[in-house]
Amino acid sequence: PRSIYLSRHGESMYNVEGKIGGDSDLSPRGWEYAKALPELVKKNIGDTPLEVWTSTLQRTIQTGSMLPFEKKTWKSLDELDAGVCDGMTYEEIEASAPAWIRDDDKFNYRYRGGESYRDVVVRLEPVIMELERQENILIIGHQAILRCLYAYFLSLPQEELPYIKIPLHTLIKITPMAYGCHEERYHLPI
Ligand code: F6P
Repeated sequence: PRSIYLSRHGESMYNVEGKIGGDSDLSPRGWEYAKALPELVKKNIGDTPLEVWTSTLQRTIQTGSMLPFEKKTWKSLDELDAGVCDGMTYEEIEASAPAWIRDDDKFNYRYRGGESYRDVVVRLEPVIMELERQENILIIGHQAILRCLYAYFLSLPQEELPYIKIPLHTLIKITPMAYGCHEERYHLPI
């Protein structure tokens, strides 16, 4: 059976600084993950052909850069647009929009000038259509994006979607079955 592999990009400089959004480069730890990824992928898929999909943002492109497979970049895989809050820390955001407001209905909360999780689910539709037609795909993505894709394949409810745990430096393998999905996770302690 075919599988879909999901991984967040390696740790970015913005992750280190606690800032959201942006288009920062990988941190030294993030590059360690990028270097270790080919081996991790090879161990789990062997010689099965694989296509790698990234967003148009540097942190995902850099994470996939060492992988010896065909690559495709998708604008629709870019991280949830935090609008006026792009580049801020959660503490900085807290001053103008306390976190409880977003937490009250995180799926529908839309950043001013930006997007909500609902908006992201809509823009991911073409990606999902294409995914359904493909064989083995590895998506190197972002936290909010991978929450949406994961929730789609595992049929998780909207209220849970924005809180799904997608840790850094972890390869998630999803194998769709007749009923439901089989899932495995491989974490690299980097
Ligand atoms: O912090 C990394 C990040 O990908 C941000 O760019 C993004 O805004 C955030 O995670 C999404 O997570 P949450 O919706 O929980 O804030």
